[in-house]
Amino acid sequence: VPSICVLISGNGSNLQAMIDAIATGKLEAKIACVISNRRDAYGLVRAEAADIPAHCLEHTAFPDRDSYDKALMKLIDKYKPDCIALAGFMRILTDDFVNHYAGKMFNIHPSLLPKYKGLHTHRQALENGDQEHGVSVHFVTPELDGGPVVIQSRVPVFIEDTEEELAARVQEQERQIYPLVLQWFCKGRLVMRENEAIMDHQRLPQTGYA
Ligand code: GAR
Repeated sequence: VPSICVLISGNGSNLQAMIDAIATGKLEAKIACVISNRRDAYGLVRAEAADIPAHCLEHTAFPDRDSYDKALMKLIDKYKPDCIALAGFMRILTDDFVNHYAGKMFNIHPSLLPKYKGLHTHRQALENGDQEHGVSVHFVTPELDGGPVVIQSRVPVFIEDTEEELAARVQEQERQIYPLVLQWFCKGRLVMRENEAIMDHQRLPQTGYA
Protein backbone atom coordinates (compact mmCIF):
# COMPACT_ATOMS: atom_id res chain seq x y z
CA VAL A 1 0.00 0.00 0.00
CA PRO A 2 1.13 3.61 -0.51
CA SER A 3 3.11 5.08 2.34
CA ILE A 4 2.78 8.49 3.93
CA CYS A 5 5.25 10.50 5.96
CA VAL A 6 3.50 12.84 8.39
CA LEU A 7 5.18 16.02 9.67
CA ILE A 8 3.90 17.57 12.88
CA SER A 9 4.76 20.18 15.49
CA GLY A 10 2.11 19.68 18.13
CA ASN A 11 -1.01 17.86 19.26
CA GLY A 12 -1.33 15.62 16.22
CA SER A 13 -5.11 15.40 16.02
CA ASN A 14 -4.83 15.25 12.23
CA LEU A 15 -2.24 12.50 12.56
CA GLN A 16 -4.68 10.65 14.83
CA ALA A 17 -7.44 11.01 12.24
CA MET A 18 -5.14 9.37 9.67
CA ILE A 19 -4.24 6.55 12.06
CA ASP A 20 -7.95 5.98 12.77
CA ALA A 21 -8.92 6.14 9.09
CA ILE A 22 -6.29 3.51 8.29
CA ALA A 23 -7.59 1.29 11.12
CA THR A 24 -11.15 1.46 9.78
CA GLY A 25 -10.13 0.95 6.15
CA LYS A 26 -11.15 4.42 5.00
CA LEU A 27 -7.56 5.25 4.18
CA GLU A 28 -5.76 2.47 2.35
CA ALA A 29 -2.22 3.48 3.16
CA LYS A 30 0.37 3.09 5.82
CA ILE A 31 2.18 5.77 7.76
CA ALA A 32 5.87 5.21 7.13
CA CYS A 33 7.02 7.63 9.80
CA VAL A 34 6.11 10.69 11.83
CA ILE A 35 8.57 13.53 12.24
CA SER A 36 8.25 16.44 14.63
CA ASN A 37 10.40 19.55 14.88
CA ARG A 38 9.42 19.81 18.57
CA ARG A 39 10.30 17.28 21.22
CA ASP A 40 7.20 17.97 23.31
CA ALA A 41 4.75 17.36 20.43
CA TYR A 42 1.99 15.09 21.71
CA GLY A 43 1.70 13.65 18.21
CA LEU A 44 4.95 11.76 18.87
CA VAL A 45 3.18 9.92 21.68
CA ARG A 46 0.29 9.12 19.34
CA ALA A 47 2.72 7.73 16.75
CA GLU A 48 4.49 5.52 19.27
CA ALA A 49 1.15 4.23 20.59
CA ALA A 50 0.30 3.20 17.03
CA ASP A 51 3.69 1.54 16.47
CA ILE A 52 4.74 4.07 13.86
CA PRO A 53 8.42 5.08 13.67
CA ALA A 54 8.59 8.51 15.30
CA HIS A 55 11.44 10.98 15.00
CA CYS A 56 12.16 14.31 16.53
CA LEU A 57 14.33 16.55 14.38
CA GLU A 58 14.64 19.80 16.26
CA HIS A 59 15.14 22.91 14.17
CA THR A 60 16.96 24.53 17.08
CA ALA A 61 19.89 22.19 16.43
CA PHE A 62 20.53 23.72 12.98
CA PRO A 63 22.11 27.05 12.04
CA ASP A 64 19.66 27.95 9.29
CA ARG A 65 16.54 26.94 7.42
CA ASP A 66 18.43 25.43 4.52
CA SER A 67 20.48 23.02 6.64
CA TYR A 68 17.41 21.96 8.61
CA ASP A 69 15.39 21.28 5.49
CA LYS A 70 18.25 19.27 3.97
CA ALA A 71 18.45 17.08 7.08
CA LEU A 72 14.68 16.69 7.08
CA MET A 73 14.73 15.65 3.42
CA LYS A 74 17.42 13.09 4.13
CA LEU A 75 15.43 11.57 6.98
CA ILE A 76 12.19 11.47 4.99
CA ASP A 77 13.83 9.95 1.91
CA LYS A 78 15.11 6.97 3.91
CA TYR A 79 11.49 5.85 4.04
CA LYS A 80 10.83 6.46 0.33
CA PRO A 81 7.28 7.66 1.03
CA ASP A 82 4.71 8.08 -1.73
CA CYS A 83 3.25 11.11 -0.02
CA ILE A 84 4.16 13.77 2.54
CA ALA A 85 1.40 15.14 4.78
CA LEU A 86 2.03 18.37 6.68
CA ALA A 87 -0.26 18.10 9.69
CA GLY A 88 0.21 21.12 11.90
CA PHE A 89 3.88 21.37 10.93
CA MET A 90 4.50 24.98 11.88
CA ARG A 91 7.51 25.79 9.74
CA ILE A 92 8.04 27.58 6.47
CA LEU A 93 9.80 25.26 4.02
CA THR A 94 12.54 26.15 1.54
CA ASP A 95 11.76 26.08 -2.18
CA ASP A 96 14.28 23.24 -2.60
CA PHE A 97 12.42 21.14 -0.09
CA VAL A 98 9.02 21.87 -1.60
CA ASN A 99 10.21 21.23 -5.15
CA HIS A 100 11.76 17.92 -4.12
CA TYR A 101 8.27 16.67 -3.18
CA ALA A 102 6.33 18.45 -5.91
CA GLY A 103 2.94 16.88 -6.55
CA LYS A 104 3.04 14.61 -3.53
CA MET A 105 3.00 16.93 -0.55
CA PHE A 106 -0.18 18.20 1.11
CA ASN A 107 -0.93 20.73 3.82
CA ILE A 108 -3.99 21.43 5.92
CA HIS A 109 -4.57 25.10 6.65
CA PRO A 110 -7.27 26.39 9.00
CA SER A 111 -8.92 28.97 6.75
CA LEU A 112 -10.91 29.22 3.57
CA LEU A 113 -7.90 29.90 1.36
CA PRO A 114 -6.97 32.21 -0.22
CA LYS A 115 -8.24 34.01 2.87
CA TYR A 116 -5.95 34.22 5.89
CA LYS A 117 -2.68 32.66 4.84
CA GLY A 118 -0.19 32.35 7.68
CA LEU A 119 -0.92 32.38 11.41
CA HIS A 120 -3.84 33.23 13.76
CA THR A 121 -6.53 32.44 11.24
CA HIS A 122 -9.31 31.91 13.79
CA ARG A 123 -8.56 35.23 15.49
CA GLN A 124 -8.67 37.03 12.15
CA ALA A 125 -12.00 35.48 11.19
CA LEU A 126 -13.46 36.65 14.52
CA GLU A 127 -11.94 40.12 14.35
CA ASN A 128 -13.27 40.64 10.86
CA GLY A 129 -16.77 39.56 11.86
CA ASP A 130 -16.82 36.78 9.27
CA GLN A 131 -20.00 34.73 9.26
CA GLU A 132 -18.20 31.69 7.99
CA HIS A 133 -14.77 30.20 8.39
CA GLY A 134 -13.24 26.85 7.61
CA VAL A 135 -10.32 24.74 6.52
CA SER A 136 -8.52 23.86 3.30
CA VAL A 137 -6.39 20.93 2.20
CA HIS A 138 -4.05 21.87 -0.62
CA PHE A 139 -1.03 20.69 -2.58
CA VAL A 140 2.12 22.36 -1.34
CA THR A 141 3.95 24.65 -3.77
CA PRO A 142 6.66 27.23 -3.04
CA GLU A 143 4.01 29.92 -2.53
CA LEU A 144 3.20 29.87 1.20
CA ASP A 145 -0.32 28.44 1.75
CA GLY A 146 -0.83 29.13 -1.94
CA GLY A 147 -0.83 25.72 -3.64
CA PRO A 148 -3.92 24.41 -5.45
CA VAL A 149 -6.81 23.66 -3.11
CA VAL A 150 -8.27 20.15 -3.17
CA ILE A 151 -11.12 20.54 -0.72
CA GLN A 152 -12.52 23.05 1.73
CA SER A 153 -14.94 22.62 4.56
CA ARG A 154 -16.93 25.55 5.94
CA VAL A 155 -18.23 26.15 9.42
CA PRO A 156 -20.47 28.91 10.79
CA VAL A 157 -19.02 31.56 13.08
CA PHE A 158 -21.29 32.39 16.01
CA ILE A 159 -21.47 35.80 17.66
CA GLU A 160 -20.20 34.62 21.03
CA ASP A 161 -17.46 32.32 19.72
CA THR A 162 -14.07 32.36 21.38
CA GLU A 163 -10.98 31.57 19.34
CA GLU A 164 -10.85 28.14 21.02
CA GLU A 165 -14.47 27.31 20.24
CA LEU A 166 -14.06 28.30 16.63
CA ALA A 167 -10.81 26.33 16.33
CA ALA A 168 -12.51 23.24 17.76
CA ARG A 169 -15.34 23.54 15.24
CA VAL A 170 -12.82 23.80 12.41
CA GLN A 171 -10.75 20.89 13.71
CA GLU A 172 -13.80 18.64 13.69
CA GLN A 173 -13.89 19.22 9.93
CA GLU A 174 -10.14 18.72 9.58
CA ARG A 175 -10.46 15.17 10.92
CA GLN A 176 -12.95 14.40 8.14
CA ILE A 177 -11.30 15.92 5.12
CA TYR A 178 -7.58 15.23 5.46
CA PRO A 179 -7.84 11.41 5.43
CA LEU A 180 -10.28 11.70 2.52
CA VAL A 181 -7.81 13.68 0.41
CA LEU A 182 -5.01 11.26 1.22
CA GLN A 183 -7.21 8.34 0.19
CA TRP A 184 -7.96 10.02 -3.15
CA PHE A 185 -4.27 10.59 -3.71
CA CYS A 186 -3.31 7.06 -2.68
CA LYS A 187 -5.90 5.65 -5.07
CA GLY A 188 -4.39 7.66 -7.93
CA ARG A 189 -7.49 9.80 -8.39
CA LEU A 190 -5.84 13.08 -7.46
CA VAL A 191 -2.83 14.71 -9.12
CA MET A 192 -1.28 18.14 -9.42
CA ARG A 193 -0.58 19.29 -12.96
CA GLU A 194 0.57 22.76 -14.05
CA ASN A 195 -0.22 24.12 -10.60
CA GLU A 196 -3.76 22.80 -10.66
CA ALA A 197 -5.43 20.08 -8.65
CA ILE A 198 -6.95 17.42 -10.91
CA MET A 199 -9.45 14.92 -9.52
CA ASP A 200 -10.73 12.08 -11.70
CA HIS A 201 -9.28 13.92 -14.73
CA GLN A 202 -11.17 17.14 -13.93
CA ARG A 203 -9.75 20.41 -12.71
CA LEU A 204 -10.94 21.25 -9.24
CA PRO A 205 -12.46 24.70 -8.85
CA GLN A 206 -10.43 27.12 -6.77
CA THR A 207 -13.45 28.42 -4.99
CA GLY A 208 -11.93 31.67 -3.72
CA TYR A 209 -13.77 32.94 -0.68
CA ALA A 210 -11.58 36.02 -0.26
C1 GAR B 1 -4.58 22.34 12.79
O1 GAR B 1 -5.69 23.11 13.14
C2 GAR B 1 -4.05 22.77 11.45
O2 GAR B 1 -5.04 23.18 10.57
C3 GAR B 1 -3.15 23.91 11.83
O3 GAR B 1 -2.55 23.50 13.02
C4 GAR B 1 -3.40 22.63 13.72
C5 GAR B 1 -2.65 21.37 14.07
O4 GAR B 1 -3.44 20.53 14.87
N1 GAR B 1 -2.17 24.17 10.81
C6 GAR B 1 -1.67 25.37 10.56
O5 GAR B 1 -1.98 26.36 11.19
C7 GAR B 1 -0.68 25.43 9.43
N2 GAR B 1 -0.21 26.76 9.22
P1 GAR B 1 -2.99 19.03 15.16
O6 GAR B 1 -1.53 19.04 15.61
O7 GAR B 1 -3.90 18.60 16.29
O8 GAR B 1 -3.20 18.22 13.91
